[in-house]
Parts: sequence; structure tokens; C-alpha cells
Amino acid sequence: MSNEIVLTGIKPTGKVHLGNYIGAIKPALQIAGASNGTALYFIADYHGLTFIQNRDELGNLSYGIAATWLALGLDPGRVVLYRQSDVPEIFELNWILSCLTPKGLMNRAHAYKAIQDQNEQLGLDADTGVNMGLFTYPILMAADILLFQSDKVPVGKDQIQHVEIARDIAERFNRNYGDTFKLPDYIVGENTAVIPGLDGRKMSKSYNNTIPLFEPADTLKKLIRKIKTDSTLPHEPKDPDTSNIFLLYKEFATPAQIQDLRNRYLSGISWGEAKQELFQAVNAFLEEPRKKYNDLMAAPEQIDQILHEGARKARAIAVPLLAKVKSKIGLEN
Ligand code: ADP
Ligand code: TRP
Repeated sequence: MSNEIVLTGIKPTGKVHLGNYIGAIKPALQIAGASNGTALYFIADYHGLTFIQNRDELGNLSYGIAATWLALGLDPGRVVLYRQSDVPEIFELNWILSCLTPKGLMNRAHAYKAIQDQNEQLGLDADTGVNMGLFTYPILMAADILLFQSDKVPVGKDQIQHVEIARDIAERFNRNYGDTFKLPDYIVGENTAVIPGLDGRKMSKSYNNTIPLFEPADTLKKLIRKIKTDSTLPHEPKDPDTSNIFLLYKEFATPAQIQDLRNRYLSGISWGEAKQELFQAVNAFLEEPRKKYNDLMAAPEQIDQILHEGARKARAIAVPLLAKVKSKIGLEN
């Protein structure tokens, strides 16, 4: 991965949960750690604004995302960490790209289509609850990506289409004005498990079934106790490979601990004991990061300092590229 530019955005729309950690944060930290080039990770706060329209909530969630990544080991000396809204060049490029994007491309974007389909089923007007920010969301995402000449964009499966739209928009620009933007590729963790929530469905803030990462230990314990299990009796053997508790345990325990718990499942372990083992493994892993997270959240000025330094580095890349783009479209200054 020499000299590659890796970039990803994280939307501040809810409390970070175990599913987000295992499915997105852990792999993205690994990718950043392995990269010899430039890694840019940013808080997509203006994407968040399409959903979160409460002053305190948007601010707190944005700090929460930054503190989460820092607490889990993102090194701001190696990765450029910034807030999208601190880089105004993204929004200038957003307008330029909007003018090159056919409306039909947005009509086909899945987030917008999903809302339209739902409205139709409910007998509502197709555009109920759709703001223009949500409709043009993929164009802003294209600006995020293209302004940094990103090679690789690590995302969840649901975001593949958006990276493809960014490529499409870049190709249109290059065709009209000559070669300017690199065409980005997405990276998806094919092997990443879909982490089940308390009720067995995919863990998601939309289902209200999450285990947030940085709750106090006793809340974590209570939540883990709520994980749905079947009615197998305590002494009866249990299949580790179909157990959601075991699946989560595997993400946090050592190979020896995993083997040990596997044996205990096979010889008969009560669900209460299995949950206690899971709690201990998750809690041991989270103890340090939780402390770091709480310290950072109590000192938002420290977070601001890191984010401002990140924005400064990001703008050092963005400003010259935007100047080049403006000169290509005929707006030399
Ligand atoms: P949510 O479903 O809670 O709204 P997001 O859609 O904001 O979560 O997801 C943020 C990132 O976390 C995405 O990359 C997504 O793929 C990943 N993710 C979310 N939930 C899970 C899960 N249950 N298992 C694995 N990865 C997940
Ligand atoms: N749309 C992404 C999500 O919902 C967040 C995001 C915004 C992003 N801009 C990006 C991801 C640029 C990768 C690259 O998760």
C-alpha cells in the first residue's frame, strides 16, 4: 500500500456500539496502521446534519466520534483526523460537482430510494421527510473523496454505491475538463461479521438493540445480561457456533480463552455464566479506552486542538487541488 491515499468518513448520528466497532472501526484502524501512505479519517458532520438537527446533539455526537477513534488507538500523528466542516474547500467542490451530476443519478441512490419506497408503502407523498441535503448526500461524499485524490475508501457494504457514484462523477469531470481526479476504489471487509444486537437482529441504532461501547461497566453488564438466548437448560450442551454470545466473545478473547469457552459450551454451561464470561472479556478490553474516552470528553478543547491540526493538514492538500479544479472550469484567480 505504498503512497496510497486512504480516506474514510464517519457520520455522527448516534452512540457508537459494538457492531460499529467490530464492523467498521477495528478494520479501519488496521488499514490505517498498515498504510505507508497518507490516511485521512474525518467526522462527516455536514452529512450528519441531514439527520441531526439539534444544536447540542450534533456537537456532542461529533466530539463523541473523535473521542471514540482516539480512545481506540487512532494515532493523530499518523492519521489526519479532521472535521469535514473545518475544510471549506469540500463545499466549494461540492457545488462544482453538483453542476456536473445528472439529477437521475441521485434518484437512483439507495438511501433516497429506500425512503421513497417506504413512503409509497405508507401511502405518503414520495418525498415526505426528504431534505435536499439527503437527496444530494452522495455528491458531498464524492467531494470528500475526490478533493484528496483518494485511492482507497474503506466503507461498510451499504456505502459501496456511494463510492461508485464518486467514481462516476470523477469520470464525468475528467472527460469534460481533462484528467484531474483520481478514480477511487472502495475497500469492504468481506469477512467482517454482522454483529447481532440484544434481540438477535443486526445490531443497529435504528433497532434500539445496541450495546454502546463506552457505557459504565455496570450498564455494560446489564446490557449483556439482556442478550436473547434460547431455553436450553443450564447443564445442557450448547452449540458455540450458533451462539451470539460466543460470536461476540470471539472478538475480544484470546485464542486460549476462546477454546476454553468452546469446551465449556460443549460440556454444558449456563447462559448466565456464558454472559458473565463475555462481560469480563469485553470489559477488560474496554477498560482503558473507556477511561481515555471519558477523559477526552471532559476536555473537548483537547479534541478541538487535534481536529484543528488535522484540518490544517487536510487543507494543505485540498487548497491547491481546488485551485487546479477552478482553473480547469475557467475560474482562474
Ligand atoms: P447503525 O446501523 O447503528 O445506524 P451505521 O449505519 O451508522 O450503524 O454504521 C456505521 C458503520 O458500522 C458502517 O460501516 C457499518 O457497516 C458498521 N456496522 C453497523 N452495524 C453493524 C453490525 N451490526 N455489524 C457489523 N458492522 C456494523
Ligand atoms: N456516508 C458515509 C456513511 O454513512 C459517511 C461518509 C461521508 C463517507 N463521506 C464519506 C465515507 C467519504 C467514506 C468516504 O457511513
